[in-house]
Amino acid sequence: MHPLHLRSAGTSLVIATHRGEAEIIHWGADIGDTLPDLAILNEPIPPSSIDANVPAGLLPQASSSWQGRPGFRGHRITDGVPGFDFSVRLRVASATADGGTAVIVQSDPDAGITVTSNLTLHPGGLLELIHTASNHGTSPFQVDEVATMLPVARDAVELLDLTGRWCRERHPQRRAIQQGTWVRTGRHGRTGHDSSLLLAAGTAGFGNRHGKVWATHLAWSGNHEQFADNVADGRTMIGGSELLGPAEVVLQPGESYTTPSLFAAYSDRGLDGISEVFYAWFRARPHHVGAVSGKARPVVLNTWEAVYFDHNLETLMELAESAADLGVERFVLDDGWFRGRRDDHAGLGDWYVDETVWPDGLTPLIDAVTSRGMEFGLWVEPEMVNMDSDIARAHPEWIVGPSAASHKDGGRLPLAWRQQHVIDLVNPDAWQYIFDRMDTLLRENNISYLKWDQNRDLLEHGHAGRASVHEQTLAAYRLFDALRSSHPGVEIESCSSGGARVDLGILERTDRIWASDCNDALERQTIQRWTGMVVPPELVGGHVGPTTSHTTGRTHDLSFRAITALFGHFGMEWDVRSVTGEERQELKRFIALYKEHRGLIHSGRMVRADVPDESLMVHGVVADAEGPDGGIPVGATAALFAVVKTRTGPAEQVGRVAVPGLDPERSYRVEAIFPAAGDADYGHTFIEAKPAPWLATGAEATGRFLGEVGLPMPVLNPEHAILLRFTAF
Ligand code: DGJ
Repeated sequence: MHPLHLRSAGTSLVIATHRGEAEIIHWGADIGDTLPDLAILNEPIPPSSIDANVPAGLLPQASSSWQGRPGFRGHRITDGVPGFDFSVRLRVASATADGGTAVIVQSDPDAGITVTSNLTLHPGGLLELIHTASNHGTSPFQVDEVATMLPVARDAVELLDLTGRWCRERHPQRRAIQQGTWVRTGRHGRTGHDSSLLLAAGTAGFGNRHGKVWATHLAWSGNHEQFADNVADGRTMIGGSELLGPAEVVLQPGESYTTPSLFAAYSDRGLDGISEVFYAWFRARPHHVGAVSGKARPVVLNTWEAVYFDHNLETLMELAESAADLGVERFVLDDGWFRGRRDDHAGLGDWYVDETVWPDGLTPLIDAVTSRGMEFGLWVEPEMVNMDSDIARAHPEWIVGPSAASHKDGGRLPLAWRQQHVIDLVNPDAWQYIFDRMDTLLRENNISYLKWDQNRDLLEHGHAGRASVHEQTLAAYRLFDALRSSHPGVEIESCSSGGARVDLGILERTDRIWASDCNDALERQTIQRWTGMVVPPELVGGHVGPTTSHTTGRTHDLSFRAITALFGHFGMEWDVRSVTGEERQELKRFIALYKEHRGLIHSGRMVRADVPDESLMVHGVVADAEGPDGGIPVGATAALFAVVKTRTGPAEQVGRVAVPGLDPERSYRVEAIFPAAGDADYGHTFIEAKPAPWLATGAEATGRFLGEVGLPMPVLNPEHAILLRFTAF
């Protein structure tokens, strides 16, 4: 059989089937359309080994003597006895390609198992893999794992993944690839603060803009594993799988299990190339919001760090008025508006407007907001319940636990978390109640936006006494999907104690992620940098918080907070009634800067310079070429860069710092748009008596010069940033 070859945006994927099972021969640089006879790749047979070549299969199998992590694990339950058909031998039944998609069917007729694999190489180079395993036998088959993985070239010798915690999501960690398996396991029942948004293997020292990188992401919001598996023969696979609980997936005859999508990107130009591939995919989606689809991301005011649970109509009206004066376009009422919810001990599940706080409902506030030209958004947490709620009292059987019996009938409850528990969405009545409440709220009120929160892990999560994170995750997805289809104009934000549900599974059903509860700009620089590796900035909420951060106690100038929030979906989470005088003018200026540049920020290429001084971050967004000659039109803003000082640096002078990513053939005018001489923060920002003259006068240079030679950057005080604009001429 001929190999299948998918090509797109500089990436090739070659799938061979001539050895009986499907195997990926190459995933990496585009190798052109002429392929040799792939028999030339048959490996030598080493001493003391199996008497055959061992393919690194699309679903690597023990039946082919693959010694690494298997692609498919499960067993048949015959007459109630488990353990049969424990070693399937999948052989290719058919392999076809159409456009960018290959469909491969592999089957083991004796074991009664067929796996259909769909591999799509999207136009921007993003690869998507999905396997569907079907039981064709006459008895139940328990699926323990279907892992989706890809081989990486041998020159991938380093591994990068992300980890974190509440208020410190998505921080990088690196290590050498060595023999053995590096596994990142998520048992939170949600994606998790520590979940690795991507797992990347690359050539030695790969960086922001250099080196070859192969990266995978698992689009799943439940339990999962991501891994890099370097087997004894030296081959490395990277990938991921849903982590199934005991007997969570038992296929009855004729039933199927489909894996979450594994997304994979290859880049020969470092991590920025990986972002380009992911961003191209996001921005090509028909429902994508942002500059590309003409749905400009509105300036947000979220009430959480402004008033917390202290809901009072008069205060909120004043806040709305103050927000409108600043230029806010979306006002989001956070937690605290529903029955019994005076703090975080009660109310979850009772999704009715609290009559004691809102005697006339939300309408007076919504009218005040919308009459000032702003959209109204509302916080909800549909999957959760407080024991102190009418719904928990009425339906104890809807509260998730490990036992078949409800906690009222002696069943055990999992440990409480923020005084809350989980609603069993696998129970159709519970699901319908939550859907109806959300649907009614959206029908009865002029709500354009939901901030959908999820504030606990799913522990000991069962339905009718059996593990059910898998089913709960699918039921939650169905809830998102049903509400979206009933209310197509309503946007949804995915929040989960900050950024604990950030993945492409949830992002298929939402329009924004709340990256972190940490609004401290210093922490946010790192959180947003690494979140932005996969998720484009138009989908990443970033808010200007109070002067002194509520979550870290650090105090930052407004400019540092605003320049940080600018490179996302900009908003504020601050009692802006207290912002007066010069500070208010400065805040207005940043809001205007955001409005002026959001078209660029939300459509351009993300660029992060490789700066040797680790106290300095240089990142920006460069417009994609669109002028008549294929370049940036003359006079257009071609790029916006932030130069960020995170701490003191070792040298007296920063020296020249290259600004990469611009068109080498094009000339640019560079100007510092913040701070400009006379700005309130000016003296705080620079350490020098006299910053480099070009900061005041502006400079002109080619993209080649700026990318190779750079500009002498000022020595900034720690935790300060400047903003540079590049205009083509
Ligand atoms: C956690 C979220 O991350 C916060 O932004 C806020 O909405 C609170 N929950 C409200 O309870």
